[in-house]
Amino acid sequence: MSAQSRIIILDFGSQYTQLIARRVRECQVYSQIVPYNTSAKKIAALKPSGIILSGGPMSVYSKHAPHPDRAIFKLGIPMLGICYGVQLMAHFLGGKVEHSTHREYGHGQLRVTTKCPLFAGLGDTMDVWNSHGDKLTKLPKGFRAVAKTDNASYAAVQDTKRKFYGLQFHPEVVHTPRGRELLENFIHDVCGAQPDWTMGSFIEEMCASIRKQVGNDHVLLGLSGGVDSSVAAALLHKAIGDQLTCVFVNNGLLRANEAESVQRIFGEHFKIKLKYVDASTRFLKKLKGITDPERKRKIIGNEFVYVFQDATKQLARGKNSKFKWLAQGTLYPDVIESVAIGGNPASMIKSHHNVGGLPKNMKFQLLEPLRELFKDEVREVGAQLGLPKEIVHRQPFPGPGLAVRILGDITRERLRILREADSIVVSEMKASDWYYKVWQSFAVLLPVKSVGVMGDERTYDNCCALRIVESQDGMTADWVRLPYDLLARISSRIVNEVKGINRCVLDITSKPPGTIEWE
Ligand code: XMP
Repeated sequence: MSAQSRIIILDFGSQYTQLIARRVRECQVYSQIVPYNTSAKKIAALKPSGIILSGGPMSVYSKHAPHPDRAIFKLGIPMLGICYGVQLMAHFLGGKVEHSTHREYGHGQLRVTTKCPLFAGLGDTMDVWNSHGDKLTKLPKGFRAVAKTDNASYAAVQDTKRKFYGLQFHPEVVHTPRGRELLENFIHDVCGAQPDWTMGSFIEEMCASIRKQVGNDHVLLGLSGGVDSSVAAALLHKAIGDQLTCVFVNNGLLRANEAESVQRIFGEHFKIKLKYVDASTRFLKKLKGITDPERKRKIIGNEFVYVFQDATKQLARGKNSKFKWLAQGTLYPDVIESVAIGGNPASMIKSHHNVGGLPKNMKFQLLEPLRELFKDEVREVGAQLGLPKEIVHRQPFPGPGLAVRILGDITRERLRILREADSIVVSEMKASDWYYKVWQSFAVLLPVKSVGVMGDERTYDNCCALRIVESQDGMTADWVRLPYDLLARISSRIVNEVKGINRCVLDITSKPPGTIEWE
């Protein structure tokens, strides 16, 4: 991908850094986040069309303030500083930043006072989102103010000669409605970056690169049925066909019809070499009598490794199946070298779960064809490769499966009860068009029995909770205010149709302080 346009984002610890990267890619230009102290030499070697300095939680004068390699200002590459980024520009190029008594936070009205390529076609005023304490009080030589707000005379600045631009506000957030167009102006017009980052071209180039990397070797992939491993499977299959073998482990903790649908889609439709391992008895035996959530997770994680290893050994005995490579559906947010600055946790939070944890002692080379992509890009790749919507837009499902949704002891009977309740939730959510609008919607089986009445008979049976949440990334979440008639339908169907449940309750806890899953 040598001739591809690229924008480098220097990360100074802003909670919005990934959002900037997303916005750049929405402009069809490849973006790459690098730590703030990456050397100018290294940055130049990446041949970026432009550099964006992110915001950050510190003051440029703080003792531990993150500073870039000052040589980046001499590279002759167009640059955009956002918030802390523009303060850094002032600090390094001879301007002045002062601690403001008036913290500017929230909505603001920007007035454009001077012609500037960033605001081309955007009119004289625009709504912007501010979040800064310090502000520019003196511009470096060569710069001039192009826009102001009530609180800042230098809300936007430019040095047209060096193609350096700075914004005190955040164009990357949705609260700056025309921020995306502003970024587009910077990326396309100022930097001259070509809109050559499309998922179609990604697929073509990645397939060529996989073929080159893998040669005639064989590749193994643990398929979970989730979006990431599924898209990785489809992409690898397009690239290397039968040199790919997928292993799908049924741990006995899957939702209704899940094993069948994976076999149908990947085995029959895509004709991918698929080894289906039914290890449910093995897993359930190990889980017998275990009620502690962390122990459940550990047992399932360990068992998965053993089962996967066994399956691999068996496969390797077959002809032409010496696996040199293990493919994984790792995504870009997992590989960004995160910087933790000023105790800002946003930059340190990492996905704490990795589906189907990989056996560490297995001697494979790793193949991660999705490691440059964000989740929505992965979905688009999946759709372009012909994966059905039920996979591409599937809700997240935890690796330990229904085990963490059955509180207390896991038995085949309790699994049957939860599966039936869960599939009613899924089918009603789909029928009402809510399924794809929420982050997750599922049932949880509680270790609680209560009294009910059915017909003339007294019942004493299990209780299930409905958990339906909206979220951007699973780190925080809120419960969804579903229409009452939909909730009523779900509840009444579960209680009437699922033998073993006589009561249904709704979980109205946000995260934090709750978690999404109950265990
Ligand atoms: P919590 O319950 O921590 O969940 O709020 C956040 C997101 O992560 C998923 N989750 C898991 N995924 N293995 C996984 O692969 C796990 O052990 C696990 N626990 C939770 C959960 O479904 C939600 O989307």
